Amino acid sequence: MRGRDFISIADLTPDELRAVLATASRLKSEGYPNVLAGQTLALLFEKPSLRTRVSFDVAMQRLGGHTVYLPQSEVGLGQREPVADVARVLSRYVHGIVARTYAHQTLLDLAESAEVPVINALSDEGHPCQALADVLTIQEKKGTLEGIRISYVGDGNNVAVSLAQAAAMAGAHFCIASPPGYRLPEDVMIASEELASRAGGSFRMVEAPKDAVRDADVVYTDTWTSMGQEDSYERRLQAFKDYQVTPELVQEAQPDAIVMHDLPAHRGEEIADEVIEGPQSVVFDQAENRLHVQAAILLMVLGKAAE
Ligand code: CP
Ligand code: NVA
Repeated sequence: MRGRDFISIADLTPDELRAVLATASRLKSEGYPNVLAGQTLALLFEKPSLRTRVSFDVAMQRLGGHTVYLPQSEVGLGQREPVADVARVLSRYVHGIVARTYAHQTLLDLAESAEVPVINALSDEGHPCQALADVLTIQEKKGTLEGIRISYVGDGNNVAVSLAQAAAMAGAHFCIASPPGYRLPEDVMIASEELASRAGGSFRMVEAPKDAVRDADVVYTDTWTSMGQEDSYERRLQAFKDYQVTPELVQEAQPDAIVMHDLPAHRGEEIADEVIEGPQSVVFDQAENRLHVQAAILLMVLGKAAE
């Protein structure tokens, strides 16, 4: 991965996916080496963030490097100046760019013009760093990813896209329940089906949450209204009203199933308070793993001895 962009889970080979998880586990248990001393990472964010921003910032510092946080109000990406110019200027100052954008095309344009690696910190079409932390958490809790039944209930959004791709690549059985009009994009479904069958897993799409969750090892949900979709909040509340992860729904899963959410969560919307606060919830372990995975990504993309 050294020197390469990381825009999508599809940019990784199955071996690279396993290597990132192994590196993250090693960093988590053995500590962080001081190998990125003298390196600087730009954190270019068009949207708000807690986990992604702080975990990249802290991971970079623990590895010996520095970050510069660049919110949209300062940079005016595509407004104060063209995306390509921002990419070319930053490439003269920093060793890598972590970018969170609305349009996925903005990320692609940044990557096209930058001379340093660009890492997707979430776009409207994917959240690959989140998905790596998610599969690391599942591997830790379940001992493996192969054959694990992962159910996602809700919007076929950026988080669902990257999770479907990572689960498929890792040989898990992935099933998503979404209402009509909010399903995963067609190309993601086709690619995930192919990837899963090659890795010994499977991919399914259903409408009823119970059909997805029955006998699952993992129950996952995310917000019904992603950043940038605020105008359709009321319409979405209506469309997803039967998709809340409730205690009754979780009972359909395996008794030892874990409940996951990338956060921020909206209690009483996509997830019931008793579920996110309940004994099966692993959301804060999952949030912690964002840190170890970001560090692994940085080592592999920026590190001198990276794979
Ligand atoms: N899960 C996640 O990406 O959170 P932030 O939006 O706070 O970074
Ligand atoms: N789907 C959510 C994820 C937030 C981390 C969003 O894009 O707002």
